[in-house]
Amino acid sequence: MKPKILVARRAPAEVLDKLAAHFDVDAVQGEEPLSPEALRERLAGKAGAYITGTERITAELLDACPDLRAVCTMSVGYNHIDVAACTARGVLVTNTPDVLTESTADFGFALLMATARRMSEGERLLREGRWKSWGWDFLAGSEVHGSTLAILGMGRIGQAIARRGRFGFGMNVIYHNRSRLAADAEAELGARYVAKDELLRQADHLVLVLPYSAESHHCIAAAEIALMKPTATLINVARGGIVDEDALAAALRERRIAAAGLDVFEGEPRVNPALLTLPNVVLTPHIASATLPTRIAMAQLAADNLVAALTSRPPPTPLNPQVLSA
Ligand code: DGY
Repeated sequence: MKPKILVARRAPAEVLDKLAAHFDVDAVQGEEPLSPEALRERLAGKAGAYITGTERITAELLDACPDLRAVCTMSVGYNHIDVAACTARGVLVTNTPDVLTESTADFGFALLMATARRMSEGERLLREGRWKSWGWDFLAGSEVHGSTLAILGMGRIGQAIARRGRFGFGMNVIYHNRSRLAADAEAELGARYVAKDELLRQADHLVLVLPYSAESHHCIAAAEIALMKPTATLINVARGGIVDEDALAAALRERRIAAAGLDVFEGEPRVNPALLTLPNVVLTPHIASATLPTRIAMAQLAADNLVAALTSRPPPTPLNPQVLSA
């Protein structure tokens, strides 16, 4: 008998075919994520969970699903999974790093440029028939080339954004991270490590790419924003909860910083209403990794992880490999 698995969100056909060759697959068809109750019901009796960032795996859920042996998320972020609770119960957890690095960095840089150069504001104005003529300071934004790119969180995606800034746009790259990069990595990126306060003070464009955790919750709030230049922009392609959105909206409204570009939101898909009415914020619906090749690569990697995990082989990208040797 094949092990039973739940595919909790719609997935590419070729990935479902691969999974069906190994497992008895219960695949969710609709566009909406399952409610926590429906997830618990559908996961009962399953050995594997193929999920995305919209399914929360909690200790309670794990207790209600004692047959579960592997949780494989099609996302690099894993703040929706209680990894410690999984490890304590011998449940293997995997994510999908690397395959989305470059597309996410492309998007992060695109969002930076759209924000700095006021692209959404300009398009809105044009579509609404409010474009009257050329003016010397009409929709004048801030400079990208040669400016200071400040990166908070210098993992794979942060480094890929640093390369774009340094080598594509001649930017002065500074960063802050829990751990400093090795000297040769800093030299290769042309990036300088600074304290967090210094990063905020010097930033022309602050890009947030750090993982979300209790430690990083609202780590950009009123006090941090107060350190930034009135001409600075803030870009978030990490997780919404990193930023105190009320504090950010107030700063944008009062022009204490120039603009923001946000792809992620604390209560997404709900967006803080204070942000929706502001002209100086570019808003996108959590699509930084959304190119078809990248999403298919993520889906395939999550499937490869699940097949390996449930056939007693080491999965390509485990988060708690200690479960394998327990
Ligand atoms: C990720 O992979 O973590 C992206 O945010 C998509 O969920």
